[in-house]
Amino acid sequence: MSNSLTGAAIVGGVCGQPIKHSMSPVIHNAWIAAAGLDAAYVPFAPAADRFETFIDGLRGGAVRGLNVTIPFKERALAAADTASDLARMAGAANLLLFGDDGRIHADNTDGPGLLGAIAVQTPGFDVTAAPLVILGAGGAARGAVAALLLAGAPEVSVVNRTVARARDLADAFGEKVLAHGEDSLPDLLRRAGLVINATSLGLGGDAGPAADLTLTPESAVVMDMVYKPLRTEFLRRAQAAGRRTVDGLEMLLRQAIPTFEAIYGQAPSSAVDVRSLALKLLGEA
Ligand code: ATR
Repeated sequence: MSNSLTGAAIVGGVCGQPIKHSMSPVIHNAWIAAAGLDAAYVPFAPAADRFETFIDGLRGGAVRGLNVTIPFKERALAAADTASDLARMAGAANLLLFGDDGRIHADNTDGPGLLGAIAVQTPGFDVTAAPLVILGAGGAARGAVAALLLAGAPEVSVVNRTVARARDLADAFGEKVLAHGEDSLPDLLRRAGLVINATSLGLGGDAGPAADLTLTPESAVVMDMVYKPLRTEFLRRAQAAGRRTVDGLEMLLRQAIPTFEAIYGQAPSSAVDVRSLALKLLGEA
């Protein structure tokens, strides 16, 4: 972070509970330092029952913009006066922007992050060209479905242990989104263009979803939204089967780019190797 903040500094931040393991402050402050901006990016951890009071207090310019993470993303959308299409479709916001007029606008840069990670790590892959399979039906899955539909995905199958939850998600999106239980997975995998793990399975080195990735077409891409560890068992199995993969860390890094632009009004410097910074924080480098 810059050591020479003035009274005119632009302040942004991230809000979650807990927040101390967030990588966002390191990433954004590295970009701020590289650009020599009079600005700061600060972590906040309001008490869970005081989130709305905290956000309300920021109206009218205390901070320019705020990333929002677990467990506040749905409540962030509800706390805003206006919202982007993507935030509304995702049912969640990871970015709140505070206007001088006291109004709050909700956005969702996780979607661009997901699409950006796919574009960077599997160049040439076309999300409009084949059926997509999302494992999981929680908030992460809903955000992925919203982003993929807005990008033109023709058909998205949501597979979840609790089928009723997959059905609720599918009902919220309409006919392009289909709900399935885990027993349909082999058939879905055989025709999948893209398979995304949006469950919490694999976190901390667990085995990950039980999907047999050898069933997928050779051209299929496999993505994991889990990034701790970076190479999850799910991605290892995909690579062992010869499939191209996309990791969750790239999604996290890619969502930070439009976030930085929205808060600080300029693109972050590509000269900063934020992936190496993040890998160090994860203990992977
Ligand atoms: P998030 O908001 O991060 O998506 P979530 O809403 O808690 O988190 O969703 C977690 C997802 O992981 C759900 O799809 C959950 O399946 P259920 O809806 O059946 O609970 C899935 N998940 C978690 N543990 C699982 C397990 N042991 N086996 C299968 N799916 C699991």
